[in-house]
Amino acid sequence: MKNDRAQFVTKTGVIAATVGSAVGLGNIWRFPFEAGVHGGGAFLILYVICVLLIGVPVVVAEFVLGRGTHANAKGAISQLVPGTWMRWMPLLGVLASVLILGFYSVVAGWILAYLYMAVTGMMSGHTPQEYGTMFGEFVSNPWLSTMCTILFLLINYTVLRRGVQKGIEKIANILMPLLFLILVVFCVNSLLMDGAGKGISFLFNPDFSKITPSVVVGAMGQAFFSLSVGLGCLLTYASYFNDKTPLVKNAFTIGALDTLVAILAGVMIFPAVFSFGMSAEAGPKLVFEILPSIFQHLPMPILWSSAFFILLFFASLTSTISMSETCIACFVEELKMSRKKATMLNTAICIVLGVLCSLSFGVMSSFTICGKTLFDLFDFVSSSILLPVGGIFFSLFVGWVVDKKFLDDQLTSNGEGKMSNWVKMPMMFCIRFVAPISIVLIFLVGLGILSF
Ligand code: PFF
Repeated sequence: MKNDRAQFVTKTGVIAATVGSAVGLGNIWRFPFEAGVHGGGAFLILYVICVLLIGVPVVVAEFVLGRGTHANAKGAISQLVPGTWMRWMPLLGVLASVLILGFYSVVAGWILAYLYMAVTGMMSGHTPQEYGTMFGEFVSNPWLSTMCTILFLLINYTVLRRGVQKGIEKIANILMPLLFLILVVFCVNSLLMDGAGKGISFLFNPDFSKITPSVVVGAMGQAFFSLSVGLGCLLTYASYFNDKTPLVKNAFTIGALDTLVAILAGVMIFPAVFSFGMSAEAGPKLVFEILPSIFQHLPMPILWSSAFFILLFFASLTSTISMSETCIACFVEELKMSRKKATMLNTAICIVLGVLCSLSFGVMSSFTICGKTLFDLFDFVSSSILLPVGGIFFSLFVGWVVDKKFLDDQLTSNGEGKMSNWVKMPMMFCIRFVAPISIVLIFLVGLGILSF
């Protein structure tokens, strides 16, 4: 199994693919308004603490399992503790992947539609109110939004069908540098606008009075979602690393680049929002209602709006590819399917869930479970329950169950690299204690079982 398994061929491919998984709508769409509304710099400090003490250690744990076994998430655990109940745990991650794909591809479908409207000039020349109406009408139109969701999933399919090297690695190598380039151009443009300072202080000025237990829960959830940890996705990507890939170094690189992109996204958005006197607290609608009207005030609005939606499209595609790969690897290796069939099965499941989620903005908006539409329910169950449960499992498993030699071999890349005790000891302390205990505490607070 080890030898004929696919691998990423280049070092940049490894970073591009893993950072591509992490950098997505979570950074560009969700982080800026979460930070803006929840205390700016204070939220950022909390977020960075969660990334360093919980996120990166769980990334290392997933990397150790994936690269050490060269198997999909379920296969990895089965290999290490055959025949125990623990081998079933990664299936929760597969469930989380399809649920996230369900709602994520709806938003990605909106992005595709907005990209089309931007490029064809259909988005130009409206009033801010018209952008609001346009968005409302679009998301509640059952045909249009479901078609866009399906189209996005078919694009996702075509990349995945080509496999690990020719599909995933190749597309990540092309899209990630472009994404950074577009983001930096937007940031420079935004910083040059009149009144940019106000936007920067909205984003960075620490307002500690806004930090409540629920904001801490939000910061952890955001860190998990943004780093793609807890569902076995990075485990699956690590199973395509070669034996020399430095795991701890790569985990820190992902944490740093992912946080950098989230901050840059805020720098791109808020100065512009403030200099045009728009509301920064528009939340999720910000990207679809407020930004299009801002682009109209810039020279060459078609160019800016197209570049912006291309950026979002790239970011979402590299992330959905990684979630799908978590399932596909599992279908291929555990159910012995061909890659083609596994990719088709994953796409079919996602189309069904995606269509249901997309209809929850229109004809199915009154269908709720526990007061949540399917879109919100999938988001809640996956991000607030399944990812933290997965995080606890992977950190406890690596911290307490795997044997010492296996762990040391992985941390030192089979003796290729050195692992100083200054890094290893705090890292293992976080994997064994800090990450699982804090996740449990934050989780209980989030579910309202514990309160301060
Ligand atoms: N990290 C992605 C984002 O920030 O948009 C979302 C994501 C990708 C979550 C892959 C989970 C995952 F396995």
